[in-house]
Amino acid sequence: MKYSSQWWILSSAILLLTISVHASRTLLRKENEVKTAVFLSPAFVLGSGSVSNKVYLNVDFPRGHIALKDFNGEVIDEAGNPIPLYETYLHHWVLARYYSNSSAVDTNITFARNAGVCQGNVLGQYYGLGSETRRTSTHVPDPYGVEVGNPAEIPNGYVERWLLNVHAIDTRGVVDRMGCAECRCNLYNVTKDESGSPLRKDYIGGLDCCYDQTQCRLRESFENVKRKLYLRYTVKWVDWHDSIVPVKIYIFDVTDSGKRTNSTSENARLGCKIEYDVEPCGAADMGKGHCVDSKKMSIVMPRGGDVIYGVAHQHWGGVGSTLHGQDGRVICSSIPIYGNGKEAGNEDGYIVGMSTCYPKPGSVKISDGEVLTLKSNYSSSQIHTGVMGLFYILVADLPLKN
Ligand SMILES: *[C@@H]1O[C@H](CO)[C@@H](O)[C@H](O)[C@H]1NC(C)=O
Ligand SMILES: *[C@@H]1O[C@H](CO)[C@@H](O)[C@H](O)[C@H]1NC(C)=O
Ligand SMILES: *[C@@H]1O[C@H](CO)[C@@H](O)[C@H](O)[C@H]1NC(C)=O
Ligand SMILES: *[C@@H]1O[C@H](CO)[C@@H](O)[C@H](O)[C@H]1NC(C)=O
Repeated sequence: MKYSSQWWILSSAILLLTISVHASRTLLRKENEVKTAVFLSPAFVLGSGSVSNKVYLNVDFPRGHIALKDFNGEVIDEAGNPIPLYETYLHHWVLARYYSNSSAVDTNITFARNAGVCQGNVLGQYYGLGSETRRTSTHVPDPYGVEVGNPAEIPNGYVERWLLNVHAIDTRGVVDRMGCAECRCNLYNVTKDESGSPLRKDYIGGLDCCYDQTQCRLRESFENVKRKLYLRYTVKWVDWHDSIVPVKIYIFDVTDSGKRTNSTSENARLGCKIEYDVEPCGAADMGKGHCVDSKKMSIVMPRGGDVIYGVAHQHWGGVGSTLHGQDGRVICSSIPIYGNGKEAGNEDGYIVGMSTCYPKPGSVKISDGEVLTLKSNYSSSQIHTGVMGLFYILVADLPLKN
């Protein structure tokens, strides 16, 4: 069975994969019971204009019954130097949890997805961001935590493991940095997707054109320089304790049509489609400065609770995203932070962070079965392809009433 490295098409619950063997460096320290570890992904090699989109199984991760408190990462080179986005654009990375048969490890894995709400395993990850990773807060305040490794939840004969997908695009020497980062099909000279199927006629950009090993167009006479890179990721956690209140992870997608099916092969693009395009605005709107593309969707929240954290994920051109409750109240609004310098973490014109919401616990509640509305705004003063409008929230069950 061929495994698609496109992370949202984790559409089949069970996948056959090979084990990736890799080295990593670990550093442990203790700070008020919060433990911190720094890990390296397997190395990936990028030449000018090339793309790496690989899935690494069984990556290094804290073991045991724990509560995750924080996860962050960045792309570095072999010497440990942070790599700026204008050299290597971090399109996305995704960290997902799975169960593997302990006597036939990683030959047949089962995703242990988050709480929802997309079809199948789509957007089933625990963590995942893109260019905004360096300056986006992910910490979970006390007394909350993301519970993993609970032995009572791991099926008999299985072990819990983590997979990491890193999609990075080298834009050194390319003809059009934004076009390559937005996966314009003409710049990649691609007419077929990763599985070899011809692209739809109206498909002009997105992940089907910048899969692993594709090449974006270089300026003439630009010397192609290959180098080895890593995703360095930092995990903070505490050992599980009864006083920790577990939170559930929900990920909403503004392209979600609400359609669902039982078929696993057909459903990848059915409900949450993950990507969409932003059409450029007309001359009249341009003159009035009205060039905002607003997209929205509504979805039923199966189970309510207290909202502890919220953040949106947007791409180049994003100008903000808001999640509303059924009565129109704002649950969380998350705005991109654009860089204005040269150094890694502040790259001029790139989204280098997203603002986050930490409502006072108990102040923002969602009811069981409440209809939520997600809005995602992009500047439409020029075309954008393959953009995303995702929204992550962490929700704690409401305390039981006496
Ligand atoms: C786990 O793998 C072993 C060895 O291949 C196999 O005999 C066993 O049936 C598997 N267990 C499950 C639950 O799939
Ligand atoms: C993979 O595991 C599932 C259960 O998780 C089992 O139903 C299926 O038969 C297994 N497939 C193979 C090829 O071992
Ligand atoms: C684009 O692809 C076609 C067919 O694979 C090939 O003939 C052509 O040389 C490529 N063009 C560029 C600029 O790489
Ligand atoms: C999105 O755009 C709409 C319409 O232009 C505006 O009313 C709304 O405040 C915007 N929201 C965000 C988060 O930018």
